[in-house]
Parts: sequence; C-alpha cells; structure tokens
Amino acid sequence: METGQPSRTAFSAARYRAAHQLIEGGEIFSDPLAVRILGVPPDAEEAPGRRAMRLFIAARTRFAEDALAVAVAGGTRQLFILGAGLDTFAYRNPWPELRVFEVDHPDTQAWKRHRLADAAIEVPENLEYVPVDFERQTLRLAAEPGAFFLWLGVVPYLTRVGFDETLGLIAATERSEVVFDYAMPPSSMPAARRAALEERAARVASIGEPWQTYFMPDDLAVELRGRGFAEIEDLGPAELAARWFGRPDVPRGTPGGHVVHARRT
Ligand SMILES: C[S@@+](CC[C@H](N)C(=O)[O-])C[C@H]1O[C@@H](n2cnc3c(N)ncnc32)[C@H](O)[C@@H]1O
Repeated sequence: METGQPSRTAFSAARYRAAHQLIEGGEIFSDPLAVRILGVPPDAEEAPGRRAMRLFIAARTRFAEDALAVAVAGGTRQLFILGAGLDTFAYRNPWPELRVFEVDHPDTQAWKRHRLADAAIEVPENLEYVPVDFERQTLRLAAEPGAFFLWLGVVPYLTRVGFDETLGLIAATERSEVVFDYAMPPSSMPAARRAALEERAARVASIGEPWQTYFMPDDLAVELRGRGFAEIEDLGPAELAARWFGRPDVPRGTPGGHVVHARRT
C-alpha cells in the first residue's frame, strides 16, 4: 500500500460487490449497504473482463458469511475482520451478541470511517476498530475460544512472513475458524490464464499493492493441518462455479482463485 493512502484494492473489491447488486441483483451475495458505502455510482452494466472477478468476490463473501452463520449458531461470539476494507457486515450484523472487530491498515480504516459518515451508515455498539499494519506491527487480539476470522482479499497482498504471523495468531486461539481466499501461482496456469493473471498482477503492483504470496492447494492444506486446522473446505474454480455460477461443467482442478474455510477442532 502507498504510504498515507487508503487501499485502492479495497475500493475496487467494494465496487465489485456493489456492481453485483445491480447487475445480478445480489443473487449470490445480497448486501443492502454495498452501493451506499461506495459513494460513487458502481458499474450497472456488464463491462468486458469484469464478470469473473465480480462473481468470485460475491461468492467468497457469501461462503464466508454462510460459514459465520453456522459458527454463531454453534456459540461463536467474536468476529475479527482482518483487512476489512469497505466490508459492510458489521453494519448489518443480525446478531447483537456477536462482537465485531474490524482490523485494518490505519489509512484504510480512517478513509472507511469517513465513507460511513458520508453515507450516514450507523456504527453499531458491538463494533470495535483495530488499526494495524500487519507488516510492521504485531497484531495483538484478545480472541476467545471459538473466534471467527474473516480474511478476504488480503492474503495475496501480504509477504509470506506477514501471512505466517497472522495465521499463527489465528491458530493460537482455541477452536478458531478462518475464511480466506488465495491465488495459485501464475506458473501453475495454462498460457492464456497465466497472461490474464500476470496482467492483473501488474495492474495492482502499479497502484502500490503487489501480489506477494501464492499457494498451491495441496501445500496450503499441509500448512493448515500443521497448525491444527483439522477441518478444511477449499473451493477452487470448479467448486465455486458448480455451487454458485450455474456451471457444473468446469473441470475439477482448474487453476484459479480459491476460498478456504479452516477450523481448529
Ligand atoms: C483487496 S482489499 C480487501 C478488503 C475487504 N476484505 C474486501 O474483501 O473488500 C485488501 C485489504 O487489506 C488491507 N491490507 C493490505 N495490506 C495490509 C497491511 N499490511 N496491514 C493491514 N491491512 C492491510 C487493506 O487496507 C485492505 O483493506
């Protein structure tokens, strides 16, 4: 991220969620605050090359919030949203007993608080803001057993050290759960997809937010199990397409963006 500037990719992810409300009617992920928090009109029509990312972002958020609902029904009372960006869950949280902690880079968090005020979105009492730079500060959270961590759209932007430290913190909490998404390395892609991924990587690098960490699904599963996450559900392009995009025909193992839910038992 550029010093003194909020995350531009946080704006971009929020724009995709808002566009999903207008273009697909929030069919995969319905968010009544997505357009309001953005502050500018989102894309209301299909723009070339944006559909796949829009649907991926809608699906990862839906997957995460579905898992969260199950956790809350099972007794979870704390949610940590790591790298929250313009995520709106805290402002439409249906469970008063669920305390939410939005953890983000101080520059992004300050910008978000302005956006919320401009959009007249009320800040609930069960929300706390935790400003932190994952790469420069040690994250200290008073997480209780069973805490849930939402870590969407962040892992590719961290160094491997930043990823390891944050995952270590999550794993230090008994019965914790985490949902995060990750990218597979460009070298694992066939030529056409690889070129598209490299183009997107160059774009985010040019705005000061380079992708730094990639995983192969099998390696990540070993890593997660090694840290005590015994239950792992990892959805790749085939599983996401079959579950949410009406496309059961995508071959299993197709490389691309993944979203994973891991739970310590
Ligand atoms: C692509 S945005 C995702 C935002 C949000 N989770 C979403 O899905 O819309 C990346 C987020 O990671 C945060 N981030 C990136 N690097 C960070 C760092 N070193 N410390 C704290 N937050 C960081 C940014 O501030 C931003 O909110």
